[in-house]
Amino acid sequence: MISIIGLGFVGLTTGLGFAKKGYLTFGFDINQERMNLLNKGIIPFHEPHLKEVLEETGEKTFFLNVEFEKAIQKSKYVFLCVGTPSDEKGSADLTYIFKAIDQILNVPFEDRKILIIKSTVPPSTLSEKIQPYVLQKAEEMGRQIGLASNPEFLREGYCWEDFIKPDRVVIGAEDIPTQVKMKELYAPFEAPMHIVSFNTAEFIKYLSNTLLSTLISYSNEMSMIADKIGNINVADSFKILHGDKRWTGSPAGMSAYVYPGCGYGGYCLPKDTSALYNIAKEKGVDAKILHANLMVNAEVKDFIVNKVSKQVQKNESIGILGLSFKPESDDVRLSPTQEVIKKLQDFGYADIIAYDPLANQMFKDEYPEMIIDYAPSLENLLGKTKNVIVLTAWKEFKEKQELVQTKNVFDFRYMFI
Ligand SMILES: NC(=O)c1ccc[n+]([C@@H]2O[C@H](COP(=O)([O-])OP(=O)(O)OC[C@H]3O[C@@H](n4cnc5c(N)ncnc54)[C@H](O)[C@@H]3O)[C@@H](O)[C@H]2O)c1
Repeated sequence: MISIIGLGFVGLTTGLGFAKKGYLTFGFDINQERMNLLNKGIIPFHEPHLKEVLEETGEKTFFLNVEFEKAIQKSKYVFLCVGTPSDEKGSADLTYIFKAIDQILNVPFEDRKILIIKSTVPPSTLSEKIQPYVLQKAEEMGRQIGLASNPEFLREGYCWEDFIKPDRVVIGAEDIPTQVKMKELYAPFEAPMHIVSFNTAEFIKYLSNTLLSTLISYSNEMSMIADKIGNINVADSFKILHGDKRWTGSPAGMSAYVYPGCGYGGYCLPKDTSALYNIAKEKGVDAKILHANLMVNAEVKDFIVNKVSKQVQKNESIGILGLSFKPESDDVRLSPTQEVIKKLQDFGYADIIAYDPLANQMFKDEYPEMIIDYAPSLENLLGKTKNVIVLTAWKEFKEKQELVQTKNVFDFRYMFI
């Protein structure tokens, strides 16, 4: 049995979704008006399908009038779906979450329950704020509690479809009994399920929302630049942009651009981003997203070098895997590797050896001033150093992952899983 605390878009949909799958589900909301409407079969907000599912499951598998204490006692799973608005500083206000936790833990119960945070909370909230609070309070009150994070990705307007047929279910759970129980709970949804750490689960939700918000702000910044340059049809431009075949397919080629690495390089992206930023400035637009974009592209190289320098002594050798700006290419113009090597040398690393399946000679010719050694093969490089930094995601490195991973690897292409 399941209790749902908070019956807004997320909680009501979740409750009805589990009820539809046959679980006995109890719904609660502190907003009495909301409860009254639901009791009359009225959905308090516009959301297709929920009314029909409420009619179908109400008083059969979905219950609104069970005493709170009894419902919690009977439930194995308790979902928190309360709001997490911004506080005055712009941080997530967790007041509703903690109030709801208190209400739940004040109920006397003996069996182990799983408290699931479905509300959106910033990464580290569960591990640093909620878990210590719950563990302490549970101990004081003599309750047994497992914790899980289960972020929700539904879209308003499509709540029902998104919940009942999820693209993926993300579960942050760090103990085996909770992982097992959560897998059982979601098994009827037949969706890809990802069991991850608390922080990872919370992070994925923010990855999703901040990517979307960044794309929107990017598009708006572009419309302001276009307006100042003049004689640009903004709507047509964006619609034609969407015709790029990188948007389609499964997986869409665009996913390669939404993946971390060492920064963009090559002949086009660095110079074109910089040129548009400059022309916007000439026309009177301070293009903040383009500016931040260029700054981050520079900063990521410092991030890489700082991370390496924390683990590798200056007198040790470093192997560089990959010289071209992307795999399947021997183009080394403005390759991130060249900047990383220069920064490593400025930092005091003198013994650097590099290997690229295609671009060793190109790199040597393009950057003759760069004093490094070149290895004729991956095996040769691995024989000469114990530290390896992966800077280009060549297939060969993945194919020989086991061999590479005998070394101290810094995988800045996030290719070894
Ligand atoms: N709306 C979305 O599209 C969406 C999508 C994914 C995730 N989320 C996240 O899910 C959470 C809920 O969002 P929502 O849109 O459903 O919010 P909402 O404001 O529509 O619903 C929250 C409900 O919780 C109730 N509530 C608060 N404290 C309570 C308590 N102690 N006991 C019982 N009920 C209580 C409120 O009265 C309210 O009805 C938020 O963290 C939100 O960021 C929302």
